[in-house]
Amino acid sequence: MPPAPPFRAPSGTHDVLPPESARWELLVSRFADLAHRAGFGLVVGPLFEDVGVFQRLGEGTDVVRKEMYVFEDRGGRPLALRPEGTASVVRAFVQHRPTTPWKVWYAAPSFRYERPQAGRYRQHHQLGVEVLGSDDPDVDVDVIALAHDLYRSLGLRQVTLALNSIGDRACRPDYVDLLGTYLHERTEQLCGEHRQRAGEQPLRVLDCKRPECRHATDAAPRMLDHLCGACAAHFERVREGLDALEIAYQLESRLVRGFDYYTRTTFEFTATALAGAQNAVGGGGRYDGLVEQLGGPPTPAIGFGIGIERVLLACDAEAVLTPPAAGVDVWVVDATGGAEARDLSWSLRRAGVAADRGFDERSMRAQMKLADRSGASLALIVGPEERARGTVSLRQLRGDGAQQVVARDDVVARVKELLA
Ligand code: HAM
Repeated sequence: MPPAPPFRAPSGTHDVLPPESARWELLVSRFADLAHRAGFGLVVGPLFEDVGVFQRLGEGTDVVRKEMYVFEDRGGRPLALRPEGTASVVRAFVQHRPTTPWKVWYAAPSFRYERPQAGRYRQHHQLGVEVLGSDDPDVDVDVIALAHDLYRSLGLRQVTLALNSIGDRACRPDYVDLLGTYLHERTEQLCGEHRQRAGEQPLRVLDCKRPECRHATDAAPRMLDHLCGACAAHFERVREGLDALEIAYQLESRLVRGFDYYTRTTFEFTATALAGAQNAVGGGGRYDGLVEQLGGPPTPAIGFGIGIERVLLACDAEAVLTPPAAGVDVWVVDATGGAEARDLSWSLRRAGVAADRGFDERSMRAQMKLADRSGASLALIVGPEERARGTVSLRQLRGDGAQQVVARDDVVARVKELLA
């Protein structure tokens, strides 16, 4: 047994190593393809920001109030690791003022000081999109359809979509008053936390997953019944679009989501193959006021975040997205000291062929074992005889193990022919 290592990855974080990392690559590239096809460009931003960027999301947000990694750098600047992607994208928008609609996607880690458990981590990774500068409900449809099509392209069948509208500045305040009154009459029925906080944050009670709050809000007034004309028309058009694209959804009047910035459309995707509290595989919504809150001009916007780890757990549960066969196509075996392997492997790579080799002048036998284990379909073998004659032996590693001798100068072309 090797001695226990002095350091391990911090609690709630994990290393993603091959071959599992091949699934990550596949998932990210699927998402990138879909995003590009829908006209989105990649945005890459800092993983930490001035803490104020996130504080402006609202102190009613648990992620900001209780879960942020906050620190001072050596220059005394107050910073925070990003707990989510939206605020950073909005900060970048306000800083650079690109033309609108601005459609961007990202694949990036988020950091939240949560109680680690299966599907809930302190560093998780999100695939996301944000569209800034349009309040057209068809944008909502585009964004939701993009997430939907990602799950579908992965082969996931057990992912459901919940949809809601939580109104806007015009209609939400009256609704919140109404809900506040309803909850006030039932304070005793709420969970411990919300008995204290329901008065200031009635909407948060709708988001509470504890059975007491669920029960107490079963018959609560629904925002959907109190939307103003403009919000109702917006929502109607979103529903019409989802129907037209054959995207099934359920109305979920309690879906207010965990951030204070949401307005109008909110949505969440749930993997029913996953258990309980960690089965949200993606979610998002409109945030028509956030750009202003972060110092920009009035700019409507919408986006989503999809948890990579959770999507992969859902793929495991449904037995889809098997990792692509890892490894290279060609393995170079060199029993003459390694220079042939060095030169041949780079000739192949420069010609676009995936090739690898062994090191440390291991025996021919040991190198052949490596070649077999590598999953490569061809081995190129150079022994003293081949070297003297300016040839290479080319052996099929799958099937009948046929072998042929090829002139050194022709070997790259021959390999490409065989692999084609
Ligand atoms: P969120 O719902 O907090 O939204 O996170 C998005 C997704 O990230 C979740 O649905 C889940 O799949 C995954 N996730 C969140 N927290 C964890 C965790 N601790 N461990 C593993 N996975 C996790 C947002 O972050 C918003 N910024 C989404 C958005 C974009 N809204 C508008 N634009």
